Amino acid sequence: DNEYSLRPKKLSEYIGQKKVKENLRVFIEAARQRSEALDHVLLYGPPGLGKTTLAGVIANEMGVNLRITSGPAIEKPGDLAALLTNLGQDDILFVDEIHRLSRSVEEILYPAMEDFALDIIIGKGPSARSIRLDLPRFTLIGATTKAGALTAPLRDRFGVISRLEMYTTEELSTIVSRSAGILNIEIEPSGAAEIASRSRGTPRIANRLLKRVRDFAQVISDGVITKEVADHALRQLEIDDLGLDASDKRMLKTVIEHYDGGPVGLDTLAATIGEESDTIEDVYEPYLMQIGFINRTPRGRVVTKRAYEHFGIPYGQRETVEN
Ligand code: ADE
Repeated sequence: DNEYSLRPKKLSEYIGQKKVKENLRVFIEAARQRSEALDHVLLYGPPGLGKTTLAGVIANEMGVNLRITSGPAIEKPGDLAALLTNLGQDDILFVDEIHRLSRSVEEILYPAMEDFALDIIIGKGPSARSIRLDLPRFTLIGATTKAGALTAPLRDRFGVISRLEMYTTEELSTIVSRSAGILNIEIEPSGAAEIASRSRGTPRIANRLLKRVRDFAQVISDGVITKEVADHALRQLEIDDLGLDASDKRMLKTVIEHYDGGPVGLDTLAATIGEESDTIEDVYEPYLMQIGFINRTPRGRVVTKRAYEHFGIPYGQRETVEN
């Protein structure tokens, strides 16, 4: 489908993440020269930065199959055993949200990662015994929004640990123009730049906004995405000039109006706005911290002066000055 075809297949087509790419290129080349499976890779960073895309690129560059699953989908040790025993030599198993694996599944994973072996317990009680089943060599690519949530023994078994960074507006412009080309959308460079600058450093958001802006261009204009059409469409979608949407604004304004700018604890804030703490932490906050609108302090979340200024709210009357 479209979504899939927007994903680059080669490292040379993957835009941004320069450091990560440079290093992966070396590790892939080295593993290929030695005819080995690539060492296990942990990719971490905020959602939408292309972790799954990168796993696909790595599989393609290694010339192996990619099997995609996620932490919550692997419910029992047997589920993982089934996945592992169905892999071909040097294949890649991609586990999204790997921090959400259960303890019992994790324990199966350790010998699998380290020795390419499955330890299966047969029987119960005193007569129970363990047999070891050999697995093909494989590469585990784990993805997580929070590397800190991984247990130490799991984290230690990854030979490559790469952090994906938010994309610059320039990189996102390139991604938007590339996607527009694939989708046969006519776009002016200033239109791509407008979408890019309002996509919160995130390719997934940029590609989604591109499709919505195209709808406006097609219906209210001549189909060409200009800066003006993009600006109109994004305003209609309530996405401001920094890419903040209604949810971001509601959260920031809640901290400002109910908690005098903070500090307010994450769980308290979550309860006040009716969101999951995890969603706030993994989805809303990374970009708000990136642009310096929110700080995490030991006593809770604090909205910064910069955010007050963005909303045109006077900062002076605050009772405590945290920053
Ligand atoms: N689509 C999503 N992420 C991308 C990236 N980093 N480069 C090119 N296209 C992408």
